[in-house]
Amino acid sequence: MEKSKITLFVFLLFSFWVSANAVYNINVVDYGAKTDGKTDSTKAFLTAWNLACSKTQSVKIYVPNGRYLLKQITFKGPCKNNVTSFQIDGTLVAPSYKVLGNAPNWILFYKVTGLSISGGTLDAQGASFWACRRSGKSCPPGARSLAFNFGTKITVKGLTSINSQIMHISINNCNNLLMQGLKIVAPDDSPNTDGIHIQLSTGVTITGASIKTGDDCVSIGPGTRNLWIEASNCGPGHGISIGSLGQDKLEQGVQNITVKNVVFTGSNNGLRIKTWARPSNGFVRGVLYQDIIMKNVVNPILIDQHYCPRNKGCPSQESGIKISQVTYRNIQGSSASQVAMKFDCSRTNPCTDIKLQTVKLTYQNTAAKSTCLNAKGASTGSVLPQSCL
Ligand SMILES: *[C@@H]1O[C@H](CO)[C@@H](O)[C@H](O)[C@H]1NC(C)=O
Ligand SMILES: *[C@@H]1O[C@H](CO)[C@@H](O)[C@H](O)[C@H]1NC(C)=O
Repeated sequence: MEKSKITLFVFLLFSFWVSANAVYNINVVDYGAKTDGKTDSTKAFLTAWNLACSKTQSVKIYVPNGRYLLKQITFKGPCKNNVTSFQIDGTLVAPSYKVLGNAPNWILFYKVTGLSISGGTLDAQGASFWACRRSGKSCPPGARSLAFNFGTKITVKGLTSINSQIMHISINNCNNLLMQGLKIVAPDDSPNTDGIHIQLSTGVTITGASIKTGDDCVSIGPGTRNLWIEASNCGPGHGISIGSLGQDKLEQGVQNITVKNVVFTGSNNGLRIKTWARPSNGFVRGVLYQDIIMKNVVNPILIDQHYCPRNKGCPSQESGIKISQVTYRNIQGSSASQVAMKFDCSRTNPCTDIKLQTVKLTYQNTAAKSTCLNAKGASTGSVLPQSCL
């Protein structure tokens, strides 16, 4: 080949390489999404997603400032690429609970791999649903705001979720999820508005979260492994809870959970593990709570193996869930009740290897108390209230 042809060939090859690797940009507004918060934008978002999902190169879906009304929507994978990003500058608004009907999730990502979501606000407008529930009328079961089912390698950064109908974020059967800088807000008295619920999932990391809600800030269900929660704030809310577990006889265990550098403010619970008093093959093994601050928390440290929140029709058996290797290291602050530390374990399956390593919890100006039932372990360093292990 002569030189000019070689140059042309190299140029064409290079251009092809660039276009194959360039990020393909999709703006939802170009596909008919409306920013008025009133016009249904569900179809526009789905069209944008389906296009993104069909590309073999990286794709960025952009949601500009504005309010977008979305009905129940499922972003379905697997996609032809594993590099889709969603950049959200706007707010996604849910329709009335009557429109969502029996949908268990408002926004669902299903079987998606390699997704990153950044920014954005989800406003589920849950107040009318809570009012329906409080009225005692018959209401739909309610929809979780954002759910990931069977997802892998997913990052969510800087997302805000407000006023979910039931739980805000649900992670189910996922691997390798990072949630960074999430802000979750619902009133203290809103029913069952858990912040983040995780189950049957491995390798979930939550950092820099601020969660103020009406139920658990984070609830950790069966089959959760290698969970890391760090540098986060919880409260008001019901604390960070492992459980409730042991609802079913056959249940996957919870293993390798780290909660580090978390501040609880005015929450009902701090570090809680709860199981029903029923036979089960499940377990909780390898939990580290470290560098925790409690500010006026009703139950700062709690293991409750006789969990029965409504105190009605409670199982009268003992819990089959085996709890072991739970370490409380450097837990400080104030309790809003006298019993700052309570280990109420199963008679048939006592808690074992509970470690207290420097704990200082106070109750008003008097001494706080600790109570133990069927709990075995050891304490090192100064432990206040005095350990009952
Ligand atoms: C995406 O990731 C999944 C799981 O790791 C893999 O099976 C699949 O081949 C990947 N797809 C592409 C297009 O890279
Ligand atoms: C425990 O989980 C962390 C992530 O939270 C992970 O880095 C570590 O390797 C896990 N340990 C074991 C023994 O699996």
